[in-house]
Amino acid sequence: MEAEPCGEAPLAHGNPAVLAEIGAGLLARRPHISPKYLYDTLGSRLFEAICELDEYYPTRTEAAIFAQHGEAIAACVGQGVSLIDLGAGNCAKAASLFPLLQPQQYVPLDISVDFLSAAVAGLQQRFPAIAMTPLGVDFSAGFQLPEHVHPQRRVFFYPGSSIGNFSPPQAVALLRNLRDNLGADGGLLIGIDLVKQSSVLDAAYNDALGVTAAFNLNLLRHVNRLAGANFELRQWQHCAYFDEAASRIEMHLQAQCDVSVRWQGGERQFARGERIHTEDSYKYTRSGFRQLLGSAGFEEVQCWTDTSCWFAVLYARAVNR
Ligand code: AVJ
Repeated sequence: MEAEPCGEAPLAHGNPAVLAEIGAGLLARRPHISPKYLYDTLGSRLFEAICELDEYYPTRTEAAIFAQHGEAIAACVGQGVSLIDLGAGNCAKAASLFPLLQPQQYVPLDISVDFLSAAVAGLQQRFPAIAMTPLGVDFSAGFQLPEHVHPQRRVFFYPGSSIGNFSPPQAVALLRNLRDNLGADGGLLIGIDLVKQSSVLDAAYNDALGVTAAFNLNLLRHVNRLAGANFELRQWQHCAYFDEAASRIEMHLQAQCDVSVRWQGGERQFARGERIHTEDSYKYTRSGFRQLLGSAGFEEVQCWTDTSCWFAVLYARAVNR
């Protein structure tokens, strides 16, 4: 898939591919909806709120790693690169690196394109010397960077452990796709959430304020718009837990009563207690992730962690496969 031009929403209503994907997921024996549909404009805002929660350690832990090791990270990545930000959201993480990294070009990618465009408009004013071109793209589908992205010294920036949304084989496929968009001088600066005590993980996805529950439920609102569905949010409950064997947080929406749902081109009955799987968030060990990188054509150059080893930021360079 070609990256879509700026301003075109990749998830516009009535999009037949979107409709087919949502319908197939809802009709599956184990019903599921892709986590990418968590991010409409309200969903992106709710995720920003999650990042402020005491229980949600990844954002602040990663920020602390960048704050403490920013100079070493910039020295490792180098200045004047084309920084391609995957799932840029409000662009705050990349922006905090600009003073040290001084990229020549900044290419933020996000599925939530209206939210992204608003963020970039503000950022361009603050950093007039950096060429910024936001792209509305669903990069999980495989993509090719457009020509205006300089071919030399491309660095993908993939913070926040968002790679955790993909199963390990999907993650390898995604990383290979990134590798194919890089020349021999390219790299990847990535944040990954590390395996830890399950009580810490469970709390991070079951916050006391209920923001994560709202974030999860908002997916149904989004699907109502995208697929003309009639989900009643009050009939569903947020549910999230760490599955140690699979090394992942699973997030579901559970029917509180017998529910019947209709959408454009389909319908389904859910019995009370039945669940729709909405997200996986894989947690890695350092060596496990190093292996994953290796099978995708990358090699770890350096890795930085916090003192409790809850989160890791690492720079990997492209190698020939
Ligand atoms: C944006 C995918 C990294 O998995 O922790 C936060 C999303 N889901 N709370 C994560 C999320 C529930 C988040 N990522």
